[in-house]
Amino acid sequence: MAASEEHDSPTEVPQPAVEEEETKTFKDLGVTDVLCEACDQLGWTKPTKIQIEAIPLALQGRDIIGLAETGSGKTGAFALPILNALLETPQRLFALVLTPTRELAFQISEQFEALGSSIGVQSAVIVGGIDSMSQSLALAKKPHIVIATPGRLIDHLENTKGFNLRALKYLVMDEADRILNMDFETEVDKILKVIPRDRKTFLFSATMTKKVQKLQRAALKNPVKCAVSSKYQTVEKLQQYYLFIPSKFKDTYLVYILNELAGNSFMIFCSTCNNTQRTALLLRNLGFTAIPLHGQMSQSKRLGSLNKFKAKARSILLATDVASRGLDIPHVDVVVNFDIPTHSKDYIHRVGRTARAGRSGKAITFVTQYDVELFQRIEHLIGKKLPVFPTQDDEVMMLTERVTEAQRFARMELREHGEKKKRTREDVGDNDDTEGALGVRNKVAGGKMKKRKGR
Ligand SMILES: Nc1ncnc2c1ncn2[C@@H]1O[C@H](COP(=O)(O)OP(=O)(O)OP(=O)(O)O)[C@@H](O)[C@H]1O
Ligand SMILES: [Mg+2]
Repeated sequence: MAASEEHDSPTEVPQPAVEEEETKTFKDLGVTDVLCEACDQLGWTKPTKIQIEAIPLALQGRDIIGLAETGSGKTGAFALPILNALLETPQRLFALVLTPTRELAFQISEQFEALGSSIGVQSAVIVGGIDSMSQSLALAKKPHIVIATPGRLIDHLENTKGFNLRALKYLVMDEADRILNMDFETEVDKILKVIPRDRKTFLFSATMTKKVQKLQRAALKNPVKCAVSSKYQTVEKLQQYYLFIPSKFKDTYLVYILNELAGNSFMIFCSTCNNTQRTALLLRNLGFTAIPLHGQMSQSKRLGSLNKFKAKARSILLATDVASRGLDIPHVDVVVNFDIPTHSKDYIHRVGRTARAGRSGKAITFVTQYDVELFQRIEHLIGKKLPVFPTQDDEVMMLTERVTEAQRFARMELREHGEKKKRTREDVGDNDDTEGALGVRNKVAGGKMKKRKGR
């Protein structure tokens, strides 16, 4: 494949000596005083590795491919240089950040606002699933930063009078490998056609595509590659385990683990919306404070679930891969891969929801008789053999009866929910978070589980 005009092979940056790294401040990187103060207020005493590498180059005007592990401060690594440049040459519709999910767009906007509040930065979040009119009004005010999922941004580029990105100076693709994937191909190509070629482009992710072809689509100019991932792409302070169990006992083992690790905050990943909803109902019926987050919920319910979990009002978030990338919820202690991820890269992102910013965390992956090959692929990708999570199988089996009963109720509720939806032919939002199942929980013998410690 011949290199296109816009794309050169990225230059690799030599790693700075450790000592040098430890003493660097944001000011040393070239960040302006008012933004250094903003970092200070967020409790960012010193820059992270990726910030040390990427910020000075970004401030020099280079295009960047930034690769660093989950929870390592990549958002700051692209937000600070953009805000710095915005202060130097103030302009409306200055930067566009593309993200693969709506929740992540809101989070990035919060980060921009937190860093830029003292300089009056305005941002707009343009994502699907919510009222388009209020977004048009927000765009009419010409914010400095637009954070968007590709599909809804196209809608506005095509239909919102007076809105265009012809003066754009910065384009960021966060979770760039995902954004440059096939699913977003048409949208991203359309966006690239209507923004200036003469702009800066930043690609960031914890996993980057090696396919030059895909990177070429981002039309980078003489990019630098800042890669600070260590040998293993997962975080050092993350304890990773697997559990080899027969498929039919997955629910029982899940309940056992939740009891064993009671008092922690969990993110549990399932492969489908349906299984996410079902498992949430199941756990609720057993007295756990579980809440689902998946693509078949209305956007207000999705944000509602996430906020309840973030505020610690619920201790278990059950989610599809819609929550696997980018979300920063510092108090997540344990990630459970209830259904094994089919794409190995998703494993890295999912388990990266815990052990962020130097904290520790645990990840447990369920491997059934059908998942062995997928699991081997994951071990190969992360370059590690994982240990087994220790369990007392006799104790697990004692839970079977109650779990079976809760499964039966969950199936009933799921069926009722489905029928209600069919009748109204619309999202019967109120049951999305399974709060409606509270009554049923009491029908299950015992209500609370025997071994649960204060939750
Ligand atoms: N210099 C810093 N010092 C301390 N904390 C920081 C610093 N920079 C960022 N953080 C915090 O670290 C956490 C993780 O940052 P961020 O979400 O940007 O990670 P990320 O590298 O984008 O991870 P992911 O790959 O999961 O998207 C956030 O809570 C952020 O506020
Ligand atoms: Mg991120």
